[in-house]
Amino acid sequence: LVCASKRVIFATMLVLDGKIAAAAVKEQIAKEVQLLIAGQKRVPHLAAILIGNNPASQAYVGNKVKTCAELGFESTLIAEPAMEEADLLSLIEKLNKDTTIDGILVQLPLPKNINEEKIIMAIDPQKDVDGFHPINVGKMAIGSPSYLPATPYGIMLMLEHFKIETSGKHCVVLGRSNIVGTPMSILLSRNTNPGNCTVTLCHSRTQNLAQHLLPADIIVAAIGIPFFVKEEMVKHGAVIIDVGINSIEAPEKKSGKRLVGDVDYEALKEKVSAMTPVPGGVGLMTIAGLMQNTLNARLNKPN
Ligand SMILES: NC(=O)c1ccc[n+]([C@@H]2O[C@H](COP(=O)([O-])OP(=O)(O)OC[C@H]3O[C@@H](n4cnc5c(N)ncnc54)[C@H](OP(=O)(O)O)[C@@H]3O)[C@@H](O)[C@H]2O)c1
Repeated sequence: LVCASKRVIFATMLVLDGKIAAAAVKEQIAKEVQLLIAGQKRVPHLAAILIGNNPASQAYVGNKVKTCAELGFESTLIAEPAMEEADLLSLIEKLNKDTTIDGILVQLPLPKNINEEKIIMAIDPQKDVDGFHPINVGKMAIGSPSYLPATPYGIMLMLEHFKIETSGKHCVVLGRSNIVGTPMSILLSRNTNPGNCTVTLCHSRTQNLAQHLLPADIIVAAIGIPFFVKEEMVKHGAVIIDVGINSIEAPEKKSGKRLVGDVDYEALKEKVSAMTPVPGGVGLMTIAGLMQNTLNARLNKPN
């Protein structure tokens, strides 16, 4: 940390590297799997359902299945180009009843002919390793043990790994979606560690957004707008968690595109004390969170 007149420059910003934090979480999970194997017990089993041909969804599910293999989990991938809602509900019912399946994941978004809410409601809350079922959301809100939504859970694991102080801090969460912003605001405000933050939740109707952001000790950006959070909106020494994954034009790349977050990383890297990169930050932690939920689902079962 260097003081140049009144300006504090964080010469050595801590990169909240998702690869490092996820590797630590996964190492612990793999050890638990080895214990199950040594005790001649069943390993965790994740069933992943992918409907449609969305390339991003295909890549996400592919990574999840690959990570299962890496950790010694069993996985079953059910991929269909299209499906009727009633057939998907029957499939979920079958997986709910299958005692060898610990976790069920339905990759979102689903094609328009399927009601996502109905599908989420159909998954047995005890197998809901994405943590989207209202029973798990309700339990999370009152601090009961539950399956936490994978991305916010991954962020909590990351904050824990890098020992980021959250208690008493003012955290601003940008975005109020059911899968990221809202659960993140709940988790950070709970009496837990990490947690105990004073949380402000901002969204598209928030007025004077910059005024809310400026005093923040911790910013979690989850809105899906490239480079939305700019240098002048953030105070010196803040911690930034960038959840955004946005594909932008990049003529210099062979693919013509590159992934960036919701935060202007380059402009902020000398101002903040810690920040997640995109890619290589929260995305990797989301998978770690999902895997931890699947292990927990297995350990919560007697068989
Ligand atoms: N890294 C990961 O693993 C991971 C996981 C999930 C999502 N993501 C990424 O995270 C981003 C957010 O995802 P999501 O599913 O939460 O998105 P979402 O459902 O589209 O929600 C976006 C939120 O941002 C708010 N918002 C939009 N424009 C805004 C503005 N100008 N000012 C303030 N708030 C604004 C919206 O407000 P309203 O509610 O008022 O509309 C909404 O609450 C996306 O880039 C997504 O790809 C990454």
